[in-house]
Formats: sequence, structure tokens, C-alpha cells
Amino acid sequence: MSDRRTPDGTNAYNGLKQAEPGLPATWYYDPDQHAREMKTLWRSNWLYVCRSDELNAALSYRTFEIGDQNIVIVRASDGSLNAFHNACRHRGSVLCIENSGQLKSKLLVCPYHQWSYAADNGDLVRTSSFTEPDGFSKADYPLFKVACAEWRGSIFIHLDPGAMFDEQDVFNRSAENFRNFPLETMVTGYTWKTRIACNWKTFWENFNECLHCPNVHPELVELVPLFTRRIINPKDVPDWQDHEGSTDPKFRGGMREGGETWSSDGSAQGHTISQLTPEDLERGHTYCSIWPNVFIGGYPDHVRIVRLHPVGPEETELTAEWLFLPETLGADDYDISNVVDFGKLVMEQDATACELNQKGLHAAPLEHGVLMPEEYVLKRFHTWVRDGVT
Ligand code: FES
Ligand SMILES: [Fe+2]
Repeated sequence: MSDRRTPDGTNAYNGLKQAEPGLPATWYYDPDQHAREMKTLWRSNWLYVCRSDELNAALSYRTFEIGDQNIVIVRASDGSLNAFHNACRHRGSVLCIENSGQLKSKLLVCPYHQWSYAADNGDLVRTSSFTEPDGFSKADYPLFKVACAEWRGSIFIHLDPGAMFDEQDVFNRSAENFRNFPLETMVTGYTWKTRIACNWKTFWENFNECLHCPNVHPELVELVPLFTRRIINPKDVPDWQDHEGSTDPKFRGGMREGGETWSSDGSAQGHTISQLTPEDLERGHTYCSIWPNVFIGGYPDHVRIVRLHPVGPEETELTAEWLFLPETLGADDYDISNVVDFGKLVMEQDATACELNQKGLHAAPLEHGVLMPEEYVLKRFHTWVRDGVT
């Protein structure tokens, strides 16, 4: 492999220069390892849960499961968002039984013995006993808090109540590329849930490479010619400088000639997001992600947010939300199925690949896979996993 240098003396080639062992194969199905990851990686990172407009109404709430942890998020009457473990401090009952709903008052009331908590701060307001015994103070029994943040119209939680959401830190790749997408005002036009018979890490590994693209995604590689080369970035090949400055999308990236967005026919139907710059449009797709649970894809006429929820060691639920400008969603000449069908097609193709991968990982002699040069993001992911579970 060549080791060519850019004019500033750095080698900007992205690829791995030596074969790297993957994670132990058992980590993709062993229940103990899965439990370890849920207690570490999933409790020490910000997690996307839903769009802010799903909790617009005062006293509306939603519950979410993060492994065996059940979290309730409430919009208090002062507009603030508050997240708590959905568990009563008396003897532990779940507080909110439904996945979503509207509180009848400013109190979260336990359905078991009716202890009541303030929805805006989790303080225990009253018990149901005649008297309070010696050694008991309501102040000692507030709900367990969970950190909660709103970022550009989306809600995130962190199981460490002291965590602070810092945009510069939270995303794997900076969300700076999304600055021109009006995420705050975009609205959900379509939501799709699906379950994949694979470990959550299997999903991320597939997401972070394109070696599979030509054989798994024939429609996508036709739309994004760079992907026919099994790479996600022009600098993923050692001789990338030979094509530097090329306007051919096969080398430059972006859409095929005449392609505008990730849709079945490549058309944006005259509804590209007006705030996007020519560079944003030419790039064709913009991604950012937060491991372990979300990626956001930005396209010239829509945004897609995909959230992961591990149901078990070998089952992962995906929730995909397609966001549009309100005027696009309401336009008679815009059919969202053009982008929704295409997005689903690509995700279903990936799901099939992930399930095949997952099945094969059980081969008794397989200790681990091996990473090839183009899989440099997987190497970063594996390092993040290894560091995070210890
Ligand atoms: S468990 Fe909630 S009031 Fe008893
Ligand atoms: Fe894929």
C-alpha cells in the first residue's frame, strides 16, 4: 500500500494499514456481555428518545426502556422537561403504566399506594399513610432523576443525572454539518419501527462501512456512485490524490448526474430545503451519530433520524423518523413515499445483511472477525466499546 503524503506533510488516507482483530464473537450474543454493555455503554452516553413536539403539551409524558431501566419524561407546566426513573420510592412500583399520556395534575401518582411526586422536580409531595413514622422524611424520597436535554427539536436523556449535554462533545462526528438544516422546525411526516435479529453492535458495524454497498444496495449505489467503489469517503483509498478535484461523483462523492436526494427516483420534487447551501446540496447526504443509539441523516429535502433500542442480545428495534419542512409536508406536489420507500428499502437491505452476519457469528471456531482497510470507523467503534465496558 502506498504511503503518499499531502502537501502539508500529513497522510490523509483514511484506511487501516494493518489488519485489526474484531471484537470477540461471543460479545454479539452472550447475555452476560449484553448486560454488561447495557450497564456501561448505555448508561454513560446521551441517548436520543424522541422529538420535542411529541411532548409539547404541558403535563404530557412518555416512557422509554433502556435495557431493564424504565424512564419517564414529563413536560412540566412551566415548559421544562424532566426525566426520572419510572419507579416509586416507596416499594418500587412503576409510576406511569402507559407508554405515553397526559397527567391529570402536576403530580405523578403511584398506581400502587398512591404516593405523589411533583412532576417538575420529582419531590415527594405526599404519602398515603396516616402518619409519618420516626426516621422518615419526605425530603429523602424524591424520584431518581435522569439528565434530559433538548437539542434542535430533539430530546436526549442520560442515565447519569449530572451529565451535561455539550454539542461539541456528544456527537461522534460533529453535528456542525447540520447547521443549515432547520431541525428545530422540521416535523415528523412518517415513523417506522422494525426489529432486526441482530446485536446492536452488528447494526453499527454495518452502518459504518460500505464494503457491502454494491451487492447489498444496488439502487443506492446507482444514486451515489462513490458507493460503487465500496467506500464512504473519497479518501478511503490510498491513491485518492490521483482523483483530487475530480467532478465525477464516482470520485468526488455526492449524487449521480441529475440526482437530487435519497429517493426512489432521485428527485426532490422541487422541494429542496431552501436554507441549504450549494455545498450541502452537492454533498447529497450529511450524517452525524451518537453511539450507542442514534444516527441522523440529512438529505436535500428531508432528514431521517434512526434510533436503536436493544430488545435483547440478538434483537434490536429500530425507530426511523422522516422529518420535513411543514410546507413540504403540506404540499400537494410532494409525495413523501418517494423518500420513505427508498429509506426503508436501504434499511431493509441492511437488516437482512445484519441478520446474516449475526447468525454466522455463532460458529464455534470463530473467535473474532478481522477489519480491512475501509473499515476504519469500525476500528474506532471497537475501541469505544472496549474502553467503555471496562
Ligand atoms: S410502591 Fe408506590 S406508593 Fe407504594
Ligand atoms: Fe448498508
